[in-house]
Amino acid sequence: MSTLAGKHIVLGLSGGIAAFKSAELCRALVKAGVTVQVVMTEAAEHFMTAVTMQALSGRPVYTSQWDPREANNMAHINLSREADAIVVAPASADFMAKLLHGGADELLSLMCLARPINQVPLIVAPAMNREMWNNPATQRNVAQLKADGIHVLDVGQGDQACGETGDGRMLEADEILEDLEAFFSPNVLAGKAVLVTAGPTYEAIDPVRGITNLSSGKMGFAIARAARMAGASVTLVAGPVHLPTPRGVQRVDVRSARQMLDAVQLHADAADVFIATAAVADWRPAHSADQKIKKDGSGQTPELSFVENPDILATIAQSPRGASGELFCVGFAAESHDLLAHATAKRIRKGVPLLVGNIGPATFGQDDNALLLVDTSGARELPHASKQALALDLIAHIARQI
Ligand code: C5P
Repeated sequence: MSTLAGKHIVLGLSGGIAAFKSAELCRALVKAGVTVQVVMTEAAEHFMTAVTMQALSGRPVYTSQWDPREANNMAHINLSREADAIVVAPASADFMAKLLHGGADELLSLMCLARPINQVPLIVAPAMNREMWNNPATQRNVAQLKADGIHVLDVGQGDQACGETGDGRMLEADEILEDLEAFFSPNVLAGKAVLVTAGPTYEAIDPVRGITNLSSGKMGFAIARAARMAGASVTLVAGPVHLPTPRGVQRVDVRSARQMLDAVQLHADAADVFIATAAVADWRPAHSADQKIKKDGSGQTPELSFVENPDILATIAQSPRGASGELFCVGFAAESHDLLAHATAKRIRKGVPLLVGNIGPATFGQDDNALLLVDTSGARELPHASKQALALDLIAHIARQI
């Protein structure tokens, strides 16, 4: 379930071509279980109609501080008191300048000024031309808005409606939604650095063939996302998978187990938590041919011999920071039976404080799973749920341990 479910958000639109993305954002918020009250400036109405936003939010839109629908004629007070947050998307350069100075000449800025600042956070998604964004005036305003406690989201980079290319685009609706989800999540790992491995590894036999496994990487990616939502800075070392990078997560793509070990060792010193979800190939071909091994028609098959791959988790867990507990190491075990016994044995063998067991054939490629958390004090089941929900529970569990 979304952390936004049940929230009431005032979605403010100021004038900008990015207002078309606000329609999508409104829809996504409603889908996430949010009640959305749209407020638009006059400039916003040049880009998007109030009818569209009313239809998408299911509520009449407010566009004027003189709206007679409010019995006390104080829309700015009434609307801001009900909100869990005010989100202004798009926030134009002009609107941000106005916020900075406490301007209040129309409903949206008036409402932002009138909100109880300790109870109703204000989140703005800037949207403008790259020159406007890079202008020292705008950058100064952004810095001051942040200093005033306003949450200024990042801007996107790329093609702009004006035909130029650069910084200043408004984030996409799904990116804003993701940032809002993170905003409303408990910040249980704030200030912590989390390192996650995910996916399979690929061990080359020759330039076109290799051995790998069926790990989809979904659990590890869900854990990386959950850690970021909990406020951690997250590095995700991913084997070859086709999954989108969770927002705000630094991703390092690798192929083989040895590359994965190198990447993990590079980032482990800065980490507070290491979560090894990758299904690392146990063995790799002893020799990887430089050229494709050709079938010669004789019926003869190539001789393949294997050597064992380094155990990444055990290596890190036995490093000085891992062994002292300064780096909290978490392993995974994919088993087919006797989960508790195997997970308990594996936790001790790997030398980690927490081992997460799951049934391999039931989880590979699936969107849901069930976990068994095994530590020194015993075992705890996280019953069948989506991998994302389990990841959030696992991160909360880890946060309590460290
Ligand atoms: O030994 P086994 O593969 O069952 O252990 C699984 C756990 O160890 C997982 O956390 C996995 O990511 C990690 N592992 C590793 N390097 C390996 C093998 C497993 O980090 N070479």
